[in-house]
Amino acid sequence: MEEIEWGKLPFGYLKTDFNIRAYYREGEWSKIEISDSEFMPVHIAATGLHYGQEAFEGLKAYMGKDGKIRLFRWEENAKRMQNSARGLLMAVPPAELFEEAILTAVRLNKRFIPPYGTGASLYIRPLLFGSGARVGVSPADEYMLLVFVTPVGPYFKEGFNPVSIQIARDADRAAPMGTGRYKVGGNYAASLASGVRAHHEGFASALYLDAKEKKYIDEAGPANFFAIKGNTYVTPKSDTILPSITNKSLMQLAESIGMKVEQRQVPVAELAEFDEVGACGTAAVISPIKRITDRDNGHEYLYCKDGKAGAVSTKLYKLLLGIQYGDEPDNFGWITIVE
Ligand SMILES: Cc1ncc(COP(=O)(O)O)c(C=O)c1O
Repeated sequence: MEEIEWGKLPFGYLKTDFNIRAYYREGEWSKIEISDSEFMPVHIAATGLHYGQEAFEGLKAYMGKDGKIRLFRWEENAKRMQNSARGLLMAVPPAELFEEAILTAVRLNKRFIPPYGTGASLYIRPLLFGSGARVGVSPADEYMLLVFVTPVGPYFKEGFNPVSIQIARDADRAAPMGTGRYKVGGNYAASLASGVRAHHEGFASALYLDAKEKKYIDEAGPANFFAIKGNTYVTPKSDTILPSITNKSLMQLAESIGMKVEQRQVPVAELAEFDEVGACGTAAVISPIKRITDRDNGHEYLYCKDGKAGAVSTKLYKLLLGIQYGDEPDNFGWITIVE
């Protein structure tokens, strides 16, 4: 294998040795299969290709200082994939199948888990899609579950350095009664144009508002939004955002260090009142935000005025990352050791 420069890895795809596949046919899930191919044959009329009958997940395996491999809250990813499957009328993969698939993928690709201290980790990507053929719009009768892994560095090139993001009022990633709360490809397809535009205009990500009234913050392209106001952790409550496992964990951690937690509608105007703001998700953990620009009216909200992440964001980031890498005690029972 070519030497991997662990410390320089981007958040991108790198070929690993094996991926895992399972098939739902005639009402039953198959046992898992191990493949060393990066390709798969797909029916030309598969609903996953034509009608977006597709959902995915993203979680990570971390190599600890003690040489143990840790998974963070995989049960939550299994539940969320099951929820996405129900939302799109797909076959629901049992949690045990999901677990076996991800554990096997990690074990078989152990040599790709970035060493402790490099800031990198092994990203695990489970994918579920309708593989059965349909021409009229209807759910398939066959499904495929695929799990591949790839070593990754930070999601935003800035790492934990503060980023600028852009409010996109002329785009929605999900409709008010749509699929925003599921992790399905269509939401990401809908966010590509505004996301790429944000990059071209110098921002790390777009920030979406609620699709109905355009009054409240929803979330960033690939991450939830949170803010710190005094001793309170504030994060949007909305049916159109993805229930982030990182955000859920940060809320618990914030409470555990004596903070108040408010999950509620967050009006755009309140951005002027926050001490710290950030984006959170598996890929980025926490990305502190230094500037939010409202693209339509040019209004700017500025944070991190000394150029550094805020004290509370930094504390939460260190705590969460510490638990994930095994440097902090797993008081909440979030960690599974991969034997
Ligand atoms: C749209 C969106 N929101 C939020 C998140 C963060 O979720 P999690 O913390 O479970 O990774 C992600 C990434 O998975 C995402 O794609």
